Amino acid sequence: MARLAVDLPWIAKYVNTGIVIILLLFGYLGTIISSNFHIGTAIFLFLFLMNFYYRHIQTKHALLRNFGIIAQARYMIESVGPELRQYLYANDVEEKPFSRAERAEVYRKAKNIDSSEAFGSLLNFDDEEIKLRHSMYPIDKKDMEKYSLTFGEERDIKNKYTITKPFIASAMSFGALGQNAVRAISRGVKAAGIPMNTGEGGYPKYHLMEGSDLIFQIGTAKFGVRNPDGSLNGDKLRNLSKLPQIKMIEIKFSQGAKPGKGGLLPKEKITEEIADLRHVPMGQDVISPPHHIECTNPKNTVEFIKRVQDFSDLPVGIKMCVGSELEFRTLIKEMKKQKIFPDYISIDGAEGGTGAAPKSFMDNVGVPLFRALPLVQKILVEERVRNKLKLLCAGKLISPGKQITAMALGADAVYTARGFLLSLGCIQALQCNKNTCPVGITTHNPRFQKGLIISDKAVKVTNYVNNLEHDFYELLASTGSKNVKELTPDKVYIPKNAPCVEK
Ligand SMILES: Cc1cc2nc3c(=O)[nH]c(=O)nc-3n(C[C@H](O)[C@H](O)[C@H](O)COP(=O)(O)O)c2cc1C
Repeated sequence: MARLAVDLPWIAKYVNTGIVIILLLFGYLGTIISSNFHIGTAIFLFLFLMNFYYRHIQTKHALLRNFGIIAQARYMIESVGPELRQYLYANDVEEKPFSRAERAEVYRKAKNIDSSEAFGSLLNFDDEEIKLRHSMYPIDKKDMEKYSLTFGEERDIKNKYTITKPFIASAMSFGALGQNAVRAISRGVKAAGIPMNTGEGGYPKYHLMEGSDLIFQIGTAKFGVRNPDGSLNGDKLRNLSKLPQIKMIEIKFSQGAKPGKGGLLPKEKITEEIADLRHVPMGQDVISPPHHIECTNPKNTVEFIKRVQDFSDLPVGIKMCVGSELEFRTLIKEMKKQKIFPDYISIDGAEGGTGAAPKSFMDNVGVPLFRALPLVQKILVEERVRNKLKLLCAGKLISPGKQITAMALGADAVYTARGFLLSLGCIQALQCNKNTCPVGITTHNPRFQKGLIISDKAVKVTNYVNNLEHDFYELLASTGSKNVKELTPDKVYIPKNAPCVEK
């Protein structure tokens, strides 16, 4: 039986002739019947010229040269492909980086609406997913112990900092985010009673505005605390650390989405204000160096941590994505040797988010969180230094199940960045690097920012945290743990085929 198939080369060949015929027809009708037909003449004249240009003049695109406006139609359909897949074709659990089901969980928490569902889970139970092990004897609500974690207690410093919920809004700079988003998160987390990390964007003008507790991040470019040669300016750090809202300092060594690369803020997002805050020129990408100028080996890296502790007089953490296991262990040994420890280490999984990163790094570099975290925990225990510092982590931990799993695998508290973006109404348009975020979060374009009403979104951020906390205690109780200290790795079911956990 003959197969019915669309013969595109044949269609392309006759499109030009077809356009000419219709063009002449409209021209003729426009002349003898009504000049209204010349609207058609104009349209088909335009199509004819476009097709002619594509096929006979331009030389850059082979597809356009061979197929003319038919290829143009293909480009147009391809450009709306992500939206079509997201809205029409992708099922609830297959989108990346977050499926619709995962995003919906955050949206519901942010809107404070019932998160119960019917009939059964949409997730896989195919022996690949990590699950929590419940106890036959869950803890009663009244017997649960309140969470509390104090940074800086190991060094017994004056300015210790205590959090009473195990979540922190992860680093996102003003620059990557627009000012409305920064302010909404800051106002929301303040009401929820948790801190936020400023990201590496320099003086945290908008983070400070709403009064939340802040962790000031020093990125490799040291925006805000930098000497002209890129080294740390101790006086600037000392002054900044005196601001009452700044509770801790974080030295960023690397970030999961681009470890070994340093930061990137595309030129499209550099406003005069950002250029001013970061002391960078307008009109070109801002690229932070891949490492701190002071840190080229374990010895000077640990010395640098000590300098930041001394200048700031605050708890100081370090953020990194794990690469080489040996390098990590050597760093810990050096800390032991110098008797200097950061107040926390935060492990960023390779699956972490970013405002902008080269795809080759995003897709290929770094160890994923649920493999890195148990490894780090193991090394800290083996080196007998687990009691010297706190362990934090991030990497798609936007919902309570994943957060509790991370805590069972060793984390004392969890960071999330994209959880907070989703709570602000992020629709995963994947345009954070283009200044065109349609919901006004990762953009400085006033046209898009005006959609983000700070007072409304701040409430959503607060709801998100409060509902995370509610579920956190419920899940914790179900594992038979009264507090996070009782939440040990044996409370996690790691199936044989789990793709990414140290077994
Ligand atoms: C828009 C955006 C901006 C970010 N900016 C920073 C930054 O300035 N410094 C940093 O260390 N990490 C930055 N990150 C990474 C996050 O802090 C976090 O480590 C990572 O996204 C993993 O958390 P998540 O999976 O919950 O998003 C950024 C992430 C996003 C999505």
